Amino acid sequence: MTATKGLEGVVAAQSAVCSIIDGVLCYRGINVDELAENATFEEVVYLLWHGALPKRDQLEAFQKELGASAQIPQELIESIRNFPEGVHSMAVLRTAVSSLALYDKEAQEMSKEANYRKSIRLTAQTPTIVAAYARLRKGLEPVAPRVEYSLAKNFLYMLNGEEPSDTAVKAFDTALILHADHEFNASTFAARVTVATLTDIYSGVVSAIGTLKGPLHGGANEAVATMLKKIGSVKEVVPFIRQALDNKEKIMGFGHRVYKDGDPRAKWLRQMSKELTEQQGKPELYEMSVKIEEMVTGEKGLKPNVDFYSASVYVSLGLDIDLFTPIFAISRMSGWTAHIMEQYENNRLIRPRADYIGPVNQHFIPMDQR
Ligand SMILES: CC(C)(COP(=O)(O)OP(=O)(O)OC[C@H]1O[C@@H](n2cnc3c(N)ncnc32)[C@H](O)[C@@H]1OP(=O)(O)O)[C@@H](O)C(=O)NCCC(=O)NCCS
Repeated sequence: MTATKGLEGVVAAQSAVCSIIDGVLCYRGINVDELAENATFEEVVYLLWHGALPKRDQLEAFQKELGASAQIPQELIESIRNFPEGVHSMAVLRTAVSSLALYDKEAQEMSKEANYRKSIRLTAQTPTIVAAYARLRKGLEPVAPRVEYSLAKNFLYMLNGEEPSDTAVKAFDTALILHADHEFNASTFAARVTVATLTDIYSGVVSAIGTLKGPLHGGANEAVATMLKKIGSVKEVVPFIRQALDNKEKIMGFGHRVYKDGDPRAKWLRQMSKELTEQQGKPELYEMSVKIEEMVTGEKGLKPNVDFYSASVYVSLGLDIDLFTPIFAISRMSGWTAHIMEQYENNRLIRPRADYIGPVNQHFIPMDQR
């Protein structure tokens, strides 16, 4: 038995949710470019869960269900209020989503219908958790979700306590679409491994949140924003990146395990970054990003991934840097739950083998002879 480091190129299971074929990303067979151009996030969530786009009445009913499920238990708000200061935002999200299970009477219910209802609640409530935490830590009271708002609008509304602009809602909605699913990425795989033991859906998404937190996965968008902040201006890009490359450091937001010719989602975020930074009168953020891209692609042949330009998009939307990865989770909750429901449908325990490289034929040595 030989192992493939990082399971590169290993096909771990069959799935009908999402594909990446020849660098083209599709959700249920529809190119993500078409979805980013034409769909709403709610349509995409419906598509991921049901396998087909909703008809008008189906979408209306679905939006209502999501809107009506967005409220989180008051007990959880009080818990978040009492969380220690200065902790990692993804640790807060991981703990809060795990706590949701404690208040869900259906938490242990394993029927298909119950898991679907829990997927609705998880997707609707994750933005409410993130917005509540973002306000509570600033000494502000949480803002209750509005039933009639889309998920994107509701999140921005709950975060700032005021009506977001149509431009902000549209940009955020598109970002949610682009992050919704991505085949067997690390967090989705973690979720599938977890639920393949036939544990509950909450355990699956908590595994996924913990996995997304890492800087090699969802944590990269926060790392990109921190890097942009550190660089500070276009003229500092060359010396900063030069030094990082010379020190063999990884430049966050570049490279991808699957896409070697570029991430199809990056072009959307690059365009959004250009437009939003111009509108905000902060074009330097975009210009810095372009300069970094020129240098990293030119010298290393590495292309930006989804996280690179999403950083300047979120900065332009006025979002706190440490909320970027929780925002990724808000979107990816739809993909995680789609995969979890698919896993339950045709389950087998996921239990690979290890290529053992340690010592053999060892014996117990009594304490006084070691
Ligand atoms: C995404 C990522 C984890 C993929 O990892 P992977 O498939 O295991 O690729 P590797 O880390 O083995 O990289 C292959 C080579 O490219 C280099 N490389 C990959 N990404 C790099 C980056 N962002 N900056 C600099 N060099 C990079 C590696 O150092 C390695 O070089 P080597 O062969 O000389 O050792 C990796 O590209 C990375 O760490 N990117 C930065 C984090 C990030 O943006 N994550 C979000 C992904 S959506």
